[in-house]
Amino acid sequence: MSEPQPPAGASSAEAASTVSTAAAGPLAMRGEKIVKRFGAVTALDGVSFTLGEGEILGILGDNGAGKSTLVKILTGFHQQTEGTLHVSGQETLLRSVDHARSLGIECVYQDLALANSLSIYHNMFLNREIVRRGPFRLLDHGQMRERAAQCLDDIGVHVPSVDLPVERLSGGQRQAIAVARAVNSNAKILLLDEPLAAMGAREAGLIIDLVLRLKEKGGLSIIMIMHNYAQTLDIADRIMLMQRGRVTFEQHSAQTSVPELMDIVRREYRAMRATTAH
Ligand SMILES: Nc1ncnc2c1ncn2[C@@H]1O[C@H](COP(=O)(O)OP(=O)(O)OP(=O)(O)O)[C@@H](O)[C@H]1O
Ligand SMILES: [Mg+2]
Repeated sequence: MSEPQPPAGASSAEAASTVSTAAAGPLAMRGEKIVKRFGAVTALDGVSFTLGEGEILGILGDNGAGKSTLVKILTGFHQQTEGTLHVSGQETLLRSVDHARSLGIECVYQDLALANSLSIYHNMFLNREIVRRGPFRLLDHGQMRERAAQCLDDIGVHVPSVDLPVERLSGGQRQAIAVARAVNSNAKILLLDEPLAAMGAREAGLIIDLVLRLKEKGGLSIIMIMHNYAQTLDIADRIMLMQRGRVTFEQHSAQTSVPELMDIVRREYRAMRATTAH
């Protein structure tokens, strides 16, 4: 494997800081100096990142660090106030979630976006329902049921029936359905915002296995916002730490450790306490 290279077009200062950690090879996505303001709140304050093709990038960080905001920009839900985004090498302003989807970008949001009163299989085909051939375009419930059951089975998610409304599931099961839906859509770039939140160890294990299997299959680049450092280092090729709207640390997972990450966060926390104590 060749040495990781800085993203093309990066300034020399940026190149110096990212030379050891930028994704190697072709990039699925690249963000440069992305700023997002909500009125007086600066949620993102110049975030640059790379996502290599076939890579899993894990994003860690405190509550309010801007992780979800970044993902919402990458998925077309929000537009950045400043900065540029490249998708498959092309500078792209993602105008909407549909626009991002048309480029193969799929997301599982932290605030799930499942239709709780609808059935599992319905949710899995929401907005891309299978219709029967013929003039009336009737929904093909049989096929959607069958495919949904097959997909969940492949992932190892067990539900009593795909006819159950989603509101009858546990938080972890709901999350698994949301991940399954995104995976089922032939995404090229998959964004997962805390996919393991609200999950027990067994369900979290299933999702981790699923993500690793997807990576092995190839053709998919993944950004995962995570909470647990050890799980992140296990699953991600690279990690990126965000604090107060900035990227404060980036490293290949194999070259860092839970104690190192904890140390960085602790130092930051102490520095913040010191400045707010006066
Ligand atoms: N729609 C919005 N309007 C105004 N402020 C927002 C909006 N969305 C996010 N923010 C603010 O931007 C900052 C970053 O929020 P964000 O949700 O991106 O954090 P996060 O890193 O995902 O946190 P968590 O770990 O709690 O999910 C916070 O201060 C938040 O209050
Ligand atoms: Mg969040």
